[in-house]
Amino acid sequence: MRTSTDIKTQKITSRSFSLMQWSDALSLNHEIIDEQHQKLFSLTNELIKHSDADAHSELINETLYELLQYIDTHFADEEELLEQMDYPKLEEHKQLHRNFTKKVAMFCKDVVQGKSEVASDLIIFLTSWLKQHTAIDDQDYKNYL
Ligand SMILES: [Fe+2]
Ligand SMILES: [Fe+2]
Repeated sequence: MRTSTDIKTQKITSRSFSLMQWSDALSLNHEIIDEQHQKLFSLTNELIKHSDADAHSELINETLYELLQYIDTHFADEEELLEQMDYPKLEEHKQLHRNFTKKVAMFCKDVVQGKSEVASDLIIFLTSWLKQHTAIDDQDYKNYL
């Protein structure tokens, strides 16, 4: 991941973010992947909880960094699994992951440059992308497991 621990996340103005909610409908009936998806949800929720106006920016930076690191780990594990099972849309799926990583790197660059509201925009993007990707894109490989 092209992010680093020195990301300067400016204080985020009060804005309510909806928490990520896990449900059985999101399960892929694969222990490791389900566990990783649930951890992604809980790390994202940690980030959301720290994102109120009073939160210490260092705490936001650390949580964001942990989440981005874990996303990298998850993508690598998931892609390895898809490769092992000869998932026919592997390249397409990898591309979705790459596009996400690129977009996040762009957001992080803006955060470093201190552009206003970028941190909250990043949280909005992260939560909506993760929800959508887990609920729709990842579900597509369920039948190949
Ligand atoms: Fe995926
Ligand atoms: Fe996934």
